[in-house]
Amino acid sequence: MKQQLENLLKPYQQTHLLQFWDKLDAKQQETLADQIQNIDFALIQKLYQSSSSDESWAEMASAATVPPAITLDDFADSASCNRAIELGNEALAHGRVGMILVAGGQGSRLGFDHPKGMFRIGPISDRSLFEMHIDLIRARSHQFGVRIPLYVMTSPPTDEETKQFLAEHSNFGLDDDDLKIFCQGTMPAVDQDGKLLMEDKATIFASPDGHGGMLAALAKSGCLGHMQERGIQHLFYGQVDNPLIQIGSPALLGYHLQSHSEMTSQVIRKTDPLQKVGVVVMIDGVARIIEYSDLPEENARETNPDGTLRLWPGSIAFHIFEADFLRRAVANADSLPFHRAHKKVAFVDSTGQTIEPATANAIKFEKFIFDLLPLARNPIVCEVDPADGFCAVKNAAPAPTETPQHVKQAIIDLHTRWLTEAGVKVKPGTPVEINPLFALDVEQLSRKMPPNITIERPTYFEA
Ligand code: UD1
Repeated sequence: MKQQLENLLKPYQQTHLLQFWDKLDAKQQETLADQIQNIDFALIQKLYQSSSSDESWAEMASAATVPPAITLDDFADSASCNRAIELGNEALAHGRVGMILVAGGQGSRLGFDHPKGMFRIGPISDRSLFEMHIDLIRARSHQFGVRIPLYVMTSPPTDEETKQFLAEHSNFGLDDDDLKIFCQGTMPAVDQDGKLLMEDKATIFASPDGHGGMLAALAKSGCLGHMQERGIQHLFYGQVDNPLIQIGSPALLGYHLQSHSEMTSQVIRKTDPLQKVGVVVMIDGVARIIEYSDLPEENARETNPDGTLRLWPGSIAFHIFEADFLRRAVANADSLPFHRAHKKVAFVDSTGQTIEPATANAIKFEKFIFDLLPLARNPIVCEVDPADGFCAVKNAAPAPTETPQHVKQAIIDLHTRWLTEAGVKVKPGTPVEINPLFALDVEQLSRKMPPNITIERPTYFEA
């Protein structure tokens, strides 16, 4: 067996993966052999060697323009918005809508040692991110008298704990057939010389292959088939870290349908040029997202004559996909390119010692789902006020932005505004939180709240 593996590794200069082979027990040898046989070494070599031909982001960003956009003004125009809402309502009422939540990241910036979806973010309710998203899905399902299936993407490091957590909480009320958990794949990482890193003497280091791994994982897990059986045509897609995502928004869905778009992206109007969000742009008539880490600062700072940012549409990573489009993309396995990220990865060296590097020592390869945008027909962006739809929990305190404290406050602020618009007085500084199963929006809230009341103590409105 060893000889066979050596022959496989030699052409790619990766025989160091077998350096501890003789010291491993039979079970360890079997696992390592299995890992080696499942790695596409030719692909890794190609990705490593492509380093010098990275795209010219500055050139692309200079040529970029803003894609067709539905702005806040369009949403405020009641005739236009009502038409969109009607269309969205119809698709929802026919049960054609599903939701994909990507939750494969490990939340390392947040310093939380569990799947991020388990992080408790409800300012009063203490609900987890998973529970908050599921409550909204259930509320939308009730609103339209249908079942909206939820597809949760995990990764090998988050899969088991996520499944256990959701099972322990009875899926927070979702039927088993309405909750499908599927696991993304992994990719090995290489050092600066292109050698694969080992996590221990018997295991090759591998990390989640990016949320673009979703395409292959949807197909492999049978979720694409499940969508088809359920007649799901339109899929909302969001990241687990943003509790404000507007899952099932009829207006957003309506504009997506009206434009015959295969992929619609919700965006915020960037005001801070260095805000860590990708920008949605058009280059030579093709829409795409330039990730914040790739956008040169000079381009990020470019302004229009009125002083606003030229490349303003900041992606909040909340999209609507047509199911047919996803199926087409899956069929074309190479639809998504790999991105390279320089990261710190602990590894065992040739003496068998585990080394914790102080600086980035590894190149990780990840696919991004938003790279589907150039392949989509009629893509559009829809603006959202961040106060209504974007406040993601990314960092641990005392970071200046996107900490749990910021997100909790954003939820309180939004719900205070809803209550005020529904005619309720909220004593300044009083925290409030509304479960979507109690009210999904100001209109529903107005119907439920008695007139002339004042809220003077922390209040959680539950179903
Ligand atoms: C991400 C987007 C960025 C967007 C911003 C909005 C990417 C590469 N960038 O940045 O364009 O403006 O969110 O908040 O996504 N995930 C997986 N599997 C993986 C990696 C990530 O499921 O292999 C999930 C995570 O659980 C998380 C989401 O993807 O829900 C985003 O990942 P993260 O690395 O935090 O992205 P950001 O840098 O915040």
